[in-house]
Amino acid sequence: MNDTFEIPIRQRNIVLIGFMGVGKTTIGQLVAKKLYRDFIDVDQAIEQTHSMTIPEIFEKHGEKHFRQLERDFIVNICTNTRLKIISLGGGAYMQEEVREVCLSKCIVFFLDLSWESWKDRLPLIIGNRPVLKSKSLEEIEELFLKRKEVYSINNSKFTPEGHDPNAAADEIVESIKLAWELYEPIS
Ligand code: S3P
Repeated sequence: MNDTFEIPIRQRNIVLIGFMGVGKTTIGQLVAKKLYRDFIDVDQAIEQTHSMTIPEIFEKHGEKHFRQLERDFIVNICTNTRLKIISLGGGAYMQEEVREVCLSKCIVFFLDLSWESWKDRLPLIIGNRPVLKSKSLEEIEELFLKRKEVYSINNSKFTPEGHDPNAAADEIVESIKLAWELYEPIS
């Protein structure tokens, strides 16, 4: 039997993916609260484990090292835990191993914001996102669109546009409960 069917859908971790600054952490925390589950932010967990901020890890050890840390952390958490809400850093899902483990063991939710809405958020996040530093707006848009193609491999997506974080979390919870009922009805 395929891996996908090993973990009952009601027990699977829920993974939020999407570009930097779309609200994965804020919305993920709210989803966790509404479902009485623990929340894990991958970047925060890496920062705590290594007692360094993400920009410090990039600066001291380079992006390649950071990508290894995030991949190892995600593979471990997705393989060995259930019932969590997990927010991924925006670049993590670009790694094939990360996509594979997320799609085979979890439910993957893409927070899909349009470029038009997202670019207004840039000044708020650019300071502590090393990937955005020294890139022009055109280059950032190119990255945004390139990554969107990869994020489109998901189980479900939600467009947070026009929703405050609480309303967005409500919609996501509703969608998750619908999937639970459809695929694992309680008889
Ligand atoms: C990154 C996104 C960041 C963080 C790191 C790299 C990326 O997380 O993991 O700065 O490559 O998109 P957020 O998506 O939470 O900003």
